[in-house]
Amino acid sequence: MSHTATRKILVTSALPYANGDIHLGHLLEYIQTDIWVRFQKSRGQQCYYVCADDAHGTAIMLRAEQEGISSEALIERVSRAHQADFARFGVNFDNYHSTHSTENRYFSELIYTRLRDKGHIATRDIEQMFDPQKGLFLADRFIKGTCPKCNAEDQYGDNCEKCGATYTPAELIDPVSAISGATPEVRSSTHYFFKLPDFAEFMQQWINDGHVQPQIRNKLMEWFESGFNEWDISRDAPYFGFEIPDAPGKYFYVWLDAPIGYLASFKNLCERECIDFDSFWQPGSDAEVYHFIGKDIVYFHALFWPAMLHGADFRTPTAVNCHGFVTVDGAKMSKSRGTFIKAATYADYLNPEYLRYYFAAKLTSKVDDLDLNLDDFTARVNSDLVGKVINIASRCAGFVKKLGGGTLSSSCADPQMLARFIAAGDDIAADYEAREFSRAMRSIMELADEANTYIAEAEPWVLAKQDGREQEVLDICSMGINLFRQLMVYLAPVVPTMAAEAQAFLNLATLDWHSRHEVLTNHTINKFKPLMTRIERDKIDAMIEASKEDLVEEQKLKDATKGPLTDEPVAAEINFDDFMKVDLRIARIAKAQYVEGADKLLQLTLDLGGETRNVFSGIRASYAPEALEGRLTVMVANLAPRKMRFGVSEGMVLASANDDGIYLLSPDAGAEPGQRVT
Ligand code: 2FM
Ligand code: ZN
Repeated sequence: MSHTATRKILVTSALPYANGDIHLGHLLEYIQTDIWVRFQKSRGQQCYYVCADDAHGTAIMLRAEQEGISSEALIERVSRAHQADFARFGVNFDNYHSTHSTENRYFSELIYTRLRDKGHIATRDIEQMFDPQKGLFLADRFIKGTCPKCNAEDQYGDNCEKCGATYTPAELIDPVSAISGATPEVRSSTHYFFKLPDFAEFMQQWINDGHVQPQIRNKLMEWFESGFNEWDISRDAPYFGFEIPDAPGKYFYVWLDAPIGYLASFKNLCERECIDFDSFWQPGSDAEVYHFIGKDIVYFHALFWPAMLHGADFRTPTAVNCHGFVTVDGAKMSKSRGTFIKAATYADYLNPEYLRYYFAAKLTSKVDDLDLNLDDFTARVNSDLVGKVINIASRCAGFVKKLGGGTLSSSCADPQMLARFIAAGDDIAADYEAREFSRAMRSIMELADEANTYIAEAEPWVLAKQDGREQEVLDICSMGINLFRQLMVYLAPVVPTMAAEAQAFLNLATLDWHSRHEVLTNHTINKFKPLMTRIERDKIDAMIEASKEDLVEEQKLKDATKGPLTDEPVAAEINFDDFMKVDLRIARIAKAQYVEGADKLLQLTLDLGGETRNVFSGIRASYAPEALEGRLTVMVANLAPRKMRFGVSEGMVLASANDDGIYLLSPDAGAEPGQRVT
């Protein structure tokens, strides 16, 4: 038993926004964190891993409006989807909460009022673009117009994608609100600011105290050198968030209450499991607190967040651990190339533990980007996990069954070798602890190579054919099983499902780090089942194709729900013959049903007066299937069939859309299914 006291550790990953799906870029972080947490738990530490959905802000409010549902309904649905995705990837939170929660309101108000009472909040009027049609102040990314430098049209409010110029929205030529198309006006309103400069010395000290990686420290020092301002933490109504206690009509900016969500989620866990919250969060606490984040949100976590905590009399994090971005085949994830891969799409085609292993094999404690090279991914997983690790068990299990009746030898064939495997666990543990997963995986695979060499040289399959050597064969294979068990202890944080199956095969109560010291002799194991199959390249190709389809679906929804930005006609003029090419028909919706795994689609069975068609339509946000069955609508009947992930779509129903919903066309009474529409 180790004699060091149990550590108290709280770990978080960044809170995903409640308006989008989890994709492979997100997963790098959750997998990295989950591996680290599972390792800590394997070592017997008191470790908690919490997360939540980041549920507030304008983007979420607008998205809900666009879908015609309440913000609450949207964040509820997205939270369920996020949690389902995480579960498929074995990301095992001790608690998953929401920033739209009573705990989060409580801590946001508490931190704000403490900061305010100590004089760290200022108010000041600022001028901002306002959408008079929506009654909404517009963040820069919700304003579009012509670039003042190069005259490129349709550029965002703060920078030009064509020439790279940066400017203020007021400098744009012919600015329009990207939400309503209205011309924005400049309006003034009072904003609340967190006086960051009050904490300049504190923050500078903090980032130099080893709480961030060296690369991050350097980047943050540049920020200090360029000078910095007070931080605007309020937004005007309408806003989906928490109203500021003493300021009716003003809301906390989403980035104020997002990190407070870490406290809220942990508090929620503490209440449920009788954990002492304060012992983790009061100043001087002996607990450790780690935030895992991406390099894009480092200011919030390594500057503003420690300052907020410090100013409000909470302890600050032990460390903020930053990672880089995921690239696929050497390039930024791209929707059109099909490399912008959603978690759910990946898991429909490939075993999530392949990805967990591959990420582990490439992760270091640094901030570098990580490339998912699909050929390397295939080769690495097949050769390491299947070819090396599982191979050891599959070569030995049969002989143990046949010659020992499933029971391992009573003594160890090579105690020195086994002792080396056990001792290697100390260095591997140090690598896990330091987030040097790549080095840990390399050491584990070197051990696997040794184990395979041991078996190859001992040649149990040759001895098995010779009379009177049964015991020797059993000893060799029992040794092999012991070596395999060591490897599974070391790999368990990375491939928990495979480890659980290995544990069942090995007939062990635990694969915890310490359990490896007990050698398995006279121990009965269970029937061996293949623990993982090889990656097939065609599954990867199918996943890429499916990702391209995800994009088509998204684009269709966007087009369907986008309000008109301008009064221009949406398509070029056509002649009569062009029009006659479109075969429009009256259709009766014979059947309508949800499509599993597609939250925008309904599957419609359309009756064309004898002939039936199967059509997938992005109208789910506005229609319940029951409400559609039996009604008439209009369809394009000669659209080329399109193969989608869920099946072939044989046409399209006609609908219009605005911000409030989708409107399916219907003919007047008397029209009959199958009739041509002209
Ligand atoms: O960048 C993001 O996706 C944010 N939703 C992360 C928030 S992390 C924490 F501060 F809540
Ligand atoms: Zn420009």
